[in-house]
Amino acid sequence: MDVTFLLNGETVQIDAVPTQTLLDWLRVERGLNGTKEGCNEGDCGACSVIVRDEGGDKALNACILFMPQLHGKTVRTVEGISGPDGQLHPVQEAMITHHGSQCGFCTPGFIASMAAGHAQGRTDHDDVLAGNLCRCTGYAPIIRAAKAAEAQPVPTWLNDPLPAVTPAPYAPQSLDELASWYAANPDATLIAGATDVGLWVTKQLRDLPDVAFLNRCAELRAVDIADDIHIGAAVTMTEVLALARTHHPHWADMIRRYGSEQVRNAATIGGNIANGSPIGDNPPALIAMGATLHLRHGDTTRDMPIEDFFIAYGNQDRAAGELVTGVTIPKSAPDLRCYKISKRFDQDISAVCGCFNITVSGGTVTAARIAFGGMAGTPHRATHVETALIGQPWTQATIDAAASAFAQDYTPMSDMRASAAYRLEIAQNLLRRYFADSNGQATNVLEVTP
Ligand SMILES: Cc1cc2nc3c(=O)[nH]c(=O)nc-3n(C[C@H](O)[C@H](O)[C@H](O)COP(=O)(O)OP(=O)(O)OC[C@H]3O[C@@H](n4cnc5c(N)ncnc54)[C@H](O)[C@@H]3O)c2cc1C
Ligand code: FES
Ligand code: FES
Repeated sequence: MDVTFLLNGETVQIDAVPTQTLLDWLRVERGLNGTKEGCNEGDCGACSVIVRDEGGDKALNACILFMPQLHGKTVRTVEGISGPDGQLHPVQEAMITHHGSQCGFCTPGFIASMAAGHAQGRTDHDDVLAGNLCRCTGYAPIIRAAKAAEAQPVPTWLNDPLPAVTPAPYAPQSLDELASWYAANPDATLIAGATDVGLWVTKQLRDLPDVAFLNRCAELRAVDIADDIHIGAAVTMTEVLALARTHHPHWADMIRRYGSEQVRNAATIGGNIANGSPIGDNPPALIAMGATLHLRHGDTTRDMPIEDFFIAYGNQDRAAGELVTGVTIPKSAPDLRCYKISKRFDQDISAVCGCFNITVSGGTVTAARIAFGGMAGTPHRATHVETALIGQPWTQATIDAAASAFAQDYTPMSDMRASAAYRLEIAQNLLRRYFADSNGQATNVLEVTP
């Protein structure tokens, strides 16, 4: 596949292997060993690089970034973050001054994430750096360094123009083109952000002979806000987070804990739905909002309530050659609350994710949509609990009575994240938390102090 991009300011034109990762290419074919390999699955950030596209600079994990995803973009590795005459970037200077590095293995990744955050004018350093693990320095000096660099200007040498490229056939620009290609090649693999597919290659060593990349398809990249909000399938979780902050702040609080900065910069909402994972964070929120899913097969389109898409574990209502084109959500849902329970605050998959959207009028429950991930083989609604609530007074007695109905809705399993009994108890307690929240006693884990 012909790929053209700028690497540390210089144009690169290559015939890329479709699923070769940038990390592999940098280290093996370019001898650029500054970018490190830690986990090779998007968890540690040692491989972070800065990628610029039409949306600006962002940190991405090079270990799960395929070469064709770079077409028409620029890449800065740690070797290209200092200036042409060896001048240090402000974050590099600050890391030295504030003793932000010991063994140094994690440092190139931190520098890339810090420089990307610096270019965006970010001051939320905990979020910017949540996807970078350091095992020996400790985070305090690193955060001090990031703060110290805030006021310094972005170095001019980082101001790369985007290279002019001709559209690549492997990354269709229009939905018509993509839909007809996929209908004719139903065994092909669609690649959106590659935060799942990347691991099929790096961990399962799978060959993917036939692939198409979705990140150039204009309709899939679009967000349309009118009476409701249409989000294209290839919109990234970083973009969804920005949208949710305005329209669905509680969903935004959960998305903030979705993977890490680097993962959110790549992962798409369509990929998070299409993979059918029982522990994906968006489906429960979207089900609780009453979202509509849009699919397309060739020239034929279909819409469905999103909960109907998830039939059983590993089985979704999607035909071969049919793609997810987007999702429509309400413009606001003031009663929506999303609770993610995981062992770590950041960068962790949910053990349980519960989303509640309960309407109370005149003290009585008039509507309820409750959906959970991590409680069954698919994300799905707690219909028995909903029925136990609707028509009842909004009281602690109603909540306690309804909570027992979770056992009719779900038979969760025990795994490394949580036991079945814990999951069931947590689900009941999240309903109690929602009730407390509705009575002005919101619990925010960010406010928990040691
Ligand atoms: C380190 C790490 C942390 C993570 N943390 C979280 C987390 O906190 N919460 C969470 O929910 N997930 C998490 N994930 C999982 C992952 O980010 C999501 O599932 C992601 O949204 C997948 O989207 P993608 O664009 O990367 O999909 P891809 O990897 O590109 O694709 C995933 C699957 O969906 C298919 N697909 C993609 N787009 C479409 C489409 N439009 N139509 C049809 N099929 C399509 C692909 O063919 C593939 O089968 C994490 C992953 C990593 C690596
Ligand atoms: S090597 Fe760990 S995130 Fe890439
Ligand atoms: S300095 Fe050693 S892991 Fe961070």
